[in-house]
Amino acid sequence: MPSSQPAPLRRTLIAGAVLVLAGGAAVGAYMFSPVERTAAETPMPALGQHLESQIARGEYVARAADCAPCHTKPGGAPFAGGLEMQTPFGTMASANITPDPQTGIGGWTRDAFARAVREGVTAHPGNLYPTMTFTSYAKMSDADIDALYAYIMSLPPVRQAKPDLQLDFPFNQRFLLSGWRKLFFDNSEFTPDPALSDEVNLGAYLIEGPAHCAECHTPRNALGAMRKDMAFAGAQIDGFWAPNLTPDAETGLGDWSEDEIFAYLSGQTTAHGGPFGPMYDVVAEGTSHLTETDLRAMAAYLHQLPPIRHATGEALDHAAATASVERGRVAYRANCAACHRLDGEGVPDFAPALANHHAVGAAADNVIMPVLTGLSDKEGRIAMPAFLLDDRSIADIANYVRNAMNETQSATATPEQVAAARATLH
Ligand code: HEC
Ligand code: HEC
Ligand code: HEC
Repeated sequence: MPSSQPAPLRRTLIAGAVLVLAGGAAVGAYMFSPVERTAAETPMPALGQHLESQIARGEYVARAADCAPCHTKPGGAPFAGGLEMQTPFGTMASANITPDPQTGIGGWTRDAFARAVREGVTAHPGNLYPTMTFTSYAKMSDADIDALYAYIMSLPPVRQAKPDLQLDFPFNQRFLLSGWRKLFFDNSEFTPDPALSDEVNLGAYLIEGPAHCAECHTPRNALGAMRKDMAFAGAQIDGFWAPNLTPDAETGLGDWSEDEIFAYLSGQTTAHGGPFGPMYDVVAEGTSHLTETDLRAMAAYLHQLPPIRHATGEALDHAAATASVERGRVAYRANCAACHRLDGEGVPDFAPALANHHAVGAAADNVIMPVLTGLSDKEGRIAMPAFLLDDRSIADIANYVRNAMNETQSATATPEQVAAARATLH
């Protein structure tokens, strides 16, 4: 039975909250010792360099970097901040980055701006939480920072104070972040690899820097830092599974051509399904506005990554799996087939296919979350309602959809997994 309102997408991106804990652990040794950036020139061509004016290029960089989606609250003025993000330690909000002198960044110099964006350090309040993805923006070139600054300062100033939210003590102590920064913040500039083509280097710059794809697609260690040995191998984000982007044949993008990755990022339909949840915004507001050259470079870079195998969840034993898939078939017919059709082929311009949908096949999370929260309506699409189903039925449906409609032969979803996902919702 559907409930009336799909829940709005949360955008927590906050493995960041875990980081604060780490800061607490390391604080003794490293308190008040900010990491300084010494990098000078980045020898990379700026992205979108064909765009003529500095401001136009800055707008392009902001698109690639997704600044607006995080710095705009629902219905609010673009870049004026106030988007609330839930963390296990309390709620935080993004800042107003319009050039209003009082509530925004109107008085900021280019260098103060660069320090905030690339290093996560401001004069006030001090260390930024890594919810602001400076951990990737650290790789942004001077030229791109200059353009971004010119663009942001050209925006209409909006007077809008940041909501006065407090993380719980001790997570509200910003100086604790210094320890984490010392341990995990890699502040080095981007250096092209001479062994790789210019195209692949451009893609590496975009993906690792402004487009910050790793922030969602790379699993983190116990202290919340991205694991280098598992770069792009897939991770959970806001309850969804951001799949493995390495070219592993079984668990990654091994069977996607570069053309297909390009098509996906540019917002065209592909044989592997389209973006939804957190990835929908990345494509709609970000990558679909980028040039073909830049998107093809990103695809070329992903395609040459070392493949990493990364399975999600443990397979149920044969009897339990068979029973769950069978129950799932019945529950799917009752709840889902009206829109997604019996065989999961979907209805064009109405509901997407769930069959041969790569991200749906990749993890049970990507069925569980849409069913629990619904998906808000996006331009030209209807909304998917949230469903008031019990934990077992949702696990069964996830196992059925992955098993019967996608190549994934394993059933991994359990009622406990659904209960855990439900518990994270507010
Ligand atoms: C994933 C969400 C996210 C993205 C993407 C993001 N930001 Fe932020 N940003 C935040 C949050 C949250 C804060 C507040 C952090 C804090 O209070 O520690 C912040 C703070 C800032 C600040 C500090 C403002 C102040 O008054 O202290 C600046 C400047 C900033 N962001 C600029 C940018 C720019 C430019 C981009 C794009 C290149 C960007 N942000 C992208 C979430 C984001
Ligand atoms: C805010 C988190 C987030 C960011 C940032 C992000 N992704 Fe994703 N991505 C996801 C999630 C969650 C999914 C799974 C849902 C879906 O398929 O739409 C996904 C799916 C994908 C898929 C489909 C994979 C499959 O197996 O079907 C591709 C390709 C992809 N992302 C590439 C990228 C690239 C390239 C970037 C950087 C430009 C990026 N993503 C940035 C969260 C993110
Ligand atoms: C009222 C029609 C409707 C029903 C019923 C429905 N869905 Fe959906 N579903 C949609 C629409 C529309 C989208 C795309 C929403 C969006 O992304 O904006 C969607 C998206 C999804 C997605 C993400 C895939 C993608 O590419 O967007 C999954 C997974 C999904 N549905 C699973 C289910 C399951 C499982 C059920 C049954 C419990 C179900 N849906 C019932 C309409 C429906």
